[in-house]
Amino acid sequence: METIKNTNNMNKDVINTDNLQKLRSAKAFKFNPFDKEFHANPYPIYHRLRCEDPVHQFFVGGDWVLTRYADVKVVLRSGRVRSHDQSELIQQKNQYLQDQGKNLNALVHTSNKFLFYMNPPDHSRLRGLVVKAFSPTVVERMRPRIQEIVNDLLGQIQNKGTMDIIADLAGPLPVTVIGRMLGIPNEAQDQLHQWSNVLSRILDSLVSVEEYEVLNKAIEEFQEYLRDLVAKREKDPQEDLISALIAAREENERLSQEELLATCILLFITGEETTVNTIGNGILALLHHPEQMETLKREPTIIQIAVEEILRYDSPVQMTKRIAIDNIEIGNQTIQAGEKIILCLGSANRDPAQFSNPDQLNLNRCENNHLAFGDGIHYCLGSALARAQAQIAINTLLQQFPDLKLASDKLEWRKNMVLRGLKTLPVTFTCR
Ligand code: HEM
Repeated sequence: METIKNTNNMNKDVINTDNLQKLRSAKAFKFNPFDKEFHANPYPIYHRLRCEDPVHQFFVGGDWVLTRYADVKVVLRSGRVRSHDQSELIQQKNQYLQDQGKNLNALVHTSNKFLFYMNPPDHSRLRGLVVKAFSPTVVERMRPRIQEIVNDLLGQIQNKGTMDIIADLAGPLPVTVIGRMLGIPNEAQDQLHQWSNVLSRILDSLVSVEEYEVLNKAIEEFQEYLRDLVAKREKDPQEDLISALIAAREENERLSQEELLATCILLFITGEETTVNTIGNGILALLHHPEQMETLKREPTIIQIAVEEILRYDSPVQMTKRIAIDNIEIGNQTIQAGEKIILCLGSANRDPAQFSNPDQLNLNRCENNHLAFGDGIHYCLGSALARAQAQIAINTLLQQFPDLKLASDKLEWRKNMVLRGLKTLPVTFTCR
């Protein structure tokens, strides 16, 4: 049995450990990630879990929920867990649909090949093939193109005096950027947006059978489109990621055709809504902290650390899952082999044992080793790309429209347990 020790037990969150009443009520406290209150604002609930029951189990034999920074980090880095296989869930739904003469075959076969759900050695082989395309050097070369896309998007609304940050800026940006990276022609942009919107639901754990059917159709169509594009690039390679993946596939057949298609699709799933949410959550946090927004307007050069703080403060990916492959001891609890562990990245990033004044947005925060991009072997492949997009979008927006104001106090969060982001973010500004 592996003992994963949380060496950072000086948790300042544990304010009143001698308060027996509180500890007793902790036994009764049941974490409900589907709760409306949690959905609107998860941070008070995380705080309670970190204080009262940091290694929480839904019920005996049920999933575990970890909320402390040190515990989450140690599990992300542990070799004693494996990736959570969402395709197991999809397979169950597929079986159910097959009895009714329907199926989710495209979804099952494609999600089986997602890097995200893979384990070594397949994971290391596939990741090794794509990692170069996302290196900070490659991303640095993309900055002028990202700036151009942001300028174009803002140019379209500059005379309107009002905009929805999500629909007008954050939404179109990552799909356009990833589409360009892969070499998908401009004419396909609208269709790409539609597929990408549907596909982001894959990451949620609460997806209905009907939604899975819509997802399956989107995957079928997207794959068909990509197959044609791959055939074109096989005849006429270009300076794009699809051509690079084809070259990798042909080199000792290290990459199968299914893996190639699944990897292209995965980039839209992992790279779209996460980036949208970074920009949306970031602008919202700045609107709620006008003094911080002023600092950034005055000193745009702090944008790099500012985006790290935005990622920590309201993390776009709130949780991820692992499955124990061995008995693991965390805190005073034993997680049995085969049990699922939910790692609350959003909570880890607000843990006072790791961050001073964690509930405060501080764009000048220097020590910021947040877990918004995860850690260990599945550490976000697109982190440099996501950072570049968020830095350029947020700075350009603030420089071009310095008097940005929130146009509604009724904001709705998207219905997704894993990804935290707004449906819309309406703002007003003075036309240029
Ligand atoms: C701010 C935006 C983003 C955030 C917050 C984010 C967050 C994450 C997190 C937390 C993980 C690890 C999940 C786990 O360990 O279970 C991850 C993995 C991944 N991300 Fe991102 N991501 C972002 C943007 C992107 C972009 C732009 C791309 C690519 C276009 C991307 C591609 C990936 C891929 C392929 C993986 C799986 C890596 C692996 O399994 O080895 N992400 N991301």
